[in-house]
This record gives sequence, structure tokens and C-alpha cells, in this order.
Amino acid sequence: MHSHLRRMLTLGVVCATAGLTVSATRGERRLDNGLARTPPMGWNSWNKFGCNVSDKLIRGVADAMVASGMRDAGYQYVNIDDCWQVARTPQGVIVVDSLRFPNGMKALGDYVHSKGLKFGVYTDAGRKTCEGRPGSYGYEAIDARTYASWGVDYVKIDWCNAEGLDARTQYTIFRDALAASGRKIVFSICEWGSNQPWDWAPAVGNLWRTTGDIADRWSSVLTLVDLSSQYWHLAGPGRWNDPDMLEVGNGGMTNTEYRAHFSLWAMMAAPLIAGNDVRAMMDSTRDATATREILLNKEVIAVDQDSLGRQGTIVQASPSELQVWVKPLADGSRAVLLFNRASVPSTISANWGRVGLKTRRARVRDLWAHTESAAVENFYAATVPSHGVVMLRVWSVPD
Ligand code: GLA
Repeated sequence: MHSHLRRMLTLGVVCATAGLTVSATRGERRLDNGLARTPPMGWNSWNKFGCNVSDKLIRGVADAMVASGMRDAGYQYVNIDDCWQVARTPQGVIVVDSLRFPNGMKALGDYVHSKGLKFGVYTDAGRKTCEGRPGSYGYEAIDARTYASWGVDYVKIDWCNAEGLDARTQYTIFRDALAASGRKIVFSICEWGSNQPWDWAPAVGNLWRTTGDIADRWSSVLTLVDLSSQYWHLAGPGRWNDPDMLEVGNGGMTNTEYRAHFSLWAMMAAPLIAGNDVRAMMDSTRDATATREILLNKEVIAVDQDSLGRQGTIVQASPSELQVWVKPLADGSRAVLLFNRASVPSTISANWGRVGLKTRRARVRDLWAHTESAAVENFYAATVPSHGVVMLRVWSVPD
């Protein structure tokens, strides 16, 4: 009760500055399907492969998730995005592309499960998917049953070709269809933040996109961060803001930028859905090594996956390009991100009061350098590369 009150008070203050209305969140019902108690982690085909999906690709990725250590680091879901579906039978059952998926989805799901992973598919709540494949509008119940029969554990539901439909209504129909399917299925809402999902999505899905699609470039990361960070107060166990999937390892950014991208997603308690070719991660090239170091950084992953489920917020931005972010964690420590958006290396300093510590001294661990200082007094300052971060975890040290 006490902490709830405190949270509501904080909410009031920050909402006022962000220009949001508190009523959007007050007393709202929340989806309680017992899933996604921490932000979902996994892989999705879209960012790297687009429509070029197949049974062979998905099996290869599942194998690589195990061999690369991704599964053991927490990446669970192997999700096929658009383009696996081609038609419907006269009875309305969705038809899988049999050239690309000759063994059918049930066999593929079984294979993914045999690797200790979970299985996800994609559909669209409108009449067609974004790539023009059959959508689920009017077929929600039958599709949910079909997915359940394949052993699907996660469904991402898009919003293309939905003219004249109401997003909240259609996604709620899907929520109920999934609940009636008899299988526990994570529900990923993908309407790009275009129908005020902050007003209804926490009662409907486990995660909801807050933005348009990510692109593999730095400016896109900034755009997504600036949107998704506004809705921090909605996040919690079972319900997450989704600033879209990861681009780490896809080649369009520097490794410094990818490290920042990954750190920001962890600070925002965002889903960590890798979007790279996991099969190429075992290569010995410099970039493959950097990709592994980023996606497999267990200390950063632990911040994202922290059981408290709080989304981090910006506590300092002066000047606006030099930011300090803080995310409270379950053991009483705090993750702190020094984030340099400027085009030159800059010193960023975080003082303990601003970070929310009540002591003069703190134990500080650098989550990328993997080094630790036992008793840092009053503040921590570091030179942060342009488009880069220094990510810390800090524990109060009693005086
Ligand atoms: C939309 C979604 C993307 C992806 C594509 C597939 O753009 O936002 O994440 O699923 O559709 O067509």
C-alpha cells in the first residue's frame, strides 16, 4: 500500500511534466494471463529476413540459439513474422506456405520445443497482413485454435489493412480468443502506437508497440526511445511497452551505437527480441564478436529482466543531449545509464541524490567493462563516447 501510494505520487509529478493525463492509468484493469512476468526475450525473423522465412531458416536459428548461448542467456521465443501464410480453406482455416514450410507448423513447433525454446507466429487483426497475406479479421477464434494446435506460445498481431475497424475492439476479441484456445499464449499488440494503446493495451496484451517500425540506423533508435520512454508508468510484470525489435548485429550502426541501443532497451524494460542472423553469430569476425558481447551481456540482460518490472526514466538531461537514466531494481540497487546523444565524446556525471540513493557512498559496477568500485563518494563521472553509453549498477553503502 505504502509503495503503491508512493508510486502514484511519483506518477503525478512526472505525468504533469510529460503532459500526460493520470486518468489514463488510474484504476485500469490489467491483462492477467500469468505470462511475460518479465519482458519477453527471443528472436524474430522480420528485421533481417523480411518475407524470406522458411522451415529451414527457423530450424537453423533454433539450433544457433542453443549453440551461441542465446537460449541460456534467456532468449526463449523463436518467432516467425509475416509471410508464412498464403490462403484460407473454405472452412476458414489458415493455410501455410507449403513450399517454404513443407513439414507444416506443428512439426516446426515441435522442433523448436525440442530445443528447449518457445514458438511464435505473426498475424494481423485486419483483413490482410502488411505483406498482403490473409489477415485474421473475422477469423480470430479459429486462428487462435489453430495456433494452439500447433503449440504456439507467442502471437504478434499487426494492424495493416484495418480501415474502419476499432483497434481496442479487435485486439480485445483476439485476447478473448487466445484465452479460449486453451493454451498459454503471449499476446504482442503491434499497432505502432497509432490508436492510443496506452489507454487500453495493458488490459488487453502482454506488450504493445509504442512506435512505428525500427530501422537499422541511429536516428531511428533515438526516435523510438523518445516515444517509448514517455509511457514508463504503464510497464510492469505482464505488461510492457514495446519500442520494437532489436537491430543489434544487422550492420547499419556502429558497435558503440548497438551497445547503446541494447542498454536503452534494457533500461526501458523493453522486450529483447533479437533481429539478427543468429546463425552468423559464431563467426570470428570483429562484428560477430561484438554482437555476441552485446546480446549475451548477462549483467545488462539482468537489468531488463529484473523482477521488479519497473521501466527506467530520465532523471537528468542537461544539456538535453547528455542524459542520466535510472531504473530501480528488486534488490534495492539501481541501474544507471549515462547516455551521450551528442556527436562528440562528453563527460556525464550522476550524483547519488539524483540517482535516488540515500547514502554518501555507493558500490558501483560497470556493466559493460565488468569492473567494480567498492565505495564511490557522492557522484560518478565518466567520459562517454558519442552515441554511446556507460551503464552502471549502484548499491548504497551505509555510512
Ligand atoms: C509491420 C510491423 C513489422 C513487421 C511487418 C511485417 O510493419 O510493424 O514489425 O511485422 O509489418 O509485414
